[in-house]
Amino acid sequence: MPNSIILKKKIKEFNKTILVSGDKSLSIRWVLFSSLANGVSKAQNLLISEDVIASIQAIRKLGIKVVLKKNFCKIFGKGINGYKYKKDIIINSQNSGTLGRLILGLIINTPYPIKIIGDKSLSKRDFKRVTDPLSKFGANFKLKRDKYLPVTINGNKNLKGINFKENIGSAQCKSSVIFAGMRASNKTLIKAKKSRNHTEILCKYLKLPVKIIEKKNFDLIEINKVNKINPLNYKIPSDISSSAFFIALTALNKNSKLLIKNVNINSSRIGIIKIFKKMGVLINFKNKKNYKGELIADILIKSPKQLNPINCPKSFNSGAIDEFLVIFLVAAKANGISYFKDLGELNQKESPRLKWGGKILKMMGIKNIISKDRIKIYGNPNLKIKKKIIIKSYFKDHRVFMTSVIAALSFGGVWHIHDKDSIKTSFPSFLKIIDKIKK
Ligand code: S3P
Repeated sequence: MPNSIILKKKIKEFNKTILVSGDKSLSIRWVLFSSLANGVSKAQNLLISEDVIASIQAIRKLGIKVVLKKNFCKIFGKGINGYKYKKDIIINSQNSGTLGRLILGLIINTPYPIKIIGDKSLSKRDFKRVTDPLSKFGANFKLKRDKYLPVTINGNKNLKGINFKENIGSAQCKSSVIFAGMRASNKTLIKAKKSRNHTEILCKYLKLPVKIIEKKNFDLIEINKVNKINPLNYKIPSDISSSAFFIALTALNKNSKLLIKNVNINSSRIGIIKIFKKMGVLINFKNKKNYKGELIADILIKSPKQLNPINCPKSFNSGAIDEFLVIFLVAAKANGISYFKDLGELNQKESPRLKWGGKILKMMGIKNIISKDRIKIYGNPNLKIKKKIIIKSYFKDHRVFMTSVIAALSFGGVWHIHDKDSIKTSFPSFLKIIDKIKK
């Protein structure tokens, strides 16, 4: 089977109902919390993708039993102090920044050095942002060139709580420190720039000694020593970041309608909805409900008559951080110039995504100007692509692949998109769902 696809045809009008796979952030967090619980936790609709399997392999290396079946996953937690640390453990985070960074907080009390490795893309990403605060607890880290994987952690049993100002808006750094704080003898305080808050919601649901005060631009989080975590049975809702590709597909095509069932619409994740609504896309939440602290709904999207350009408020960025590639695509079809700013973090993802966003638009014939952390996109509502576009050498960033597919189906042209396997990290069923919408 070739590891690339060629797309030559635009999609026709559609009216469909789809279900996308489980939320990646929640799936990885469920695995990690369950590994610390006293007893058996069971999940349904766990995302079965390489990032989540890597998380399961990681806790197996720490002596935790996992049974993974098609319809459920069971984790046999042995309590907060139940990891079986031994010499020469190597944890392979593969492509997953979430696993690589969060796990460092969980294993901060290891008596033996543990080495964290990752794939080519993860090995280019900043780990100092997480080892800096974690070392203040009393652990030691050795990083490649002071910043990158492989990271070797030398843990400490007598951890002291810390005060941490999280200024990046990284949920991974915040969550890693929350996990480490659970093992410290005294309290840890985090002042965190807004970012996704699934870890905090799970702490609250599990009644852990964690307090959260939400302010307008940041959150104050207090973590105290955790003695016991109850097992966590969980039905993982669908991922809004996976839904994003189909929301964009509907926004970019005429006379179409899509219902995406049972999606996690946590307020820290719906930046794309706020942005697209401002651009004129018709989006409604149906059957809203609360599930163990997370908000869930069906998302109904209707094609707009026209797409408005946007001067995107900075405050929308963190809630849309994984969605900007498809957001840029929608801006490419808007009736005017769109502005996005303060997006330096995009270049810290699986590929330098601000650069790649601009590059894809240029290949499509859309003028755009990138300066440091901002992009200006000159939309063209009549854009039709006639040429051949080749997408390759993009660090196998799953979201570059999926964005390119949406562009091919929406604007035409002949697209040869390499590294199809990249979708296995977050959304293996992506192309099957595309086929379902096409039929
Ligand atoms: C994630 C946090 C975000 C996001 C990533 C998943 C998480 O990364 O981009 O895809 O599950 O905590 P940062 O923490 O680096 O912003």
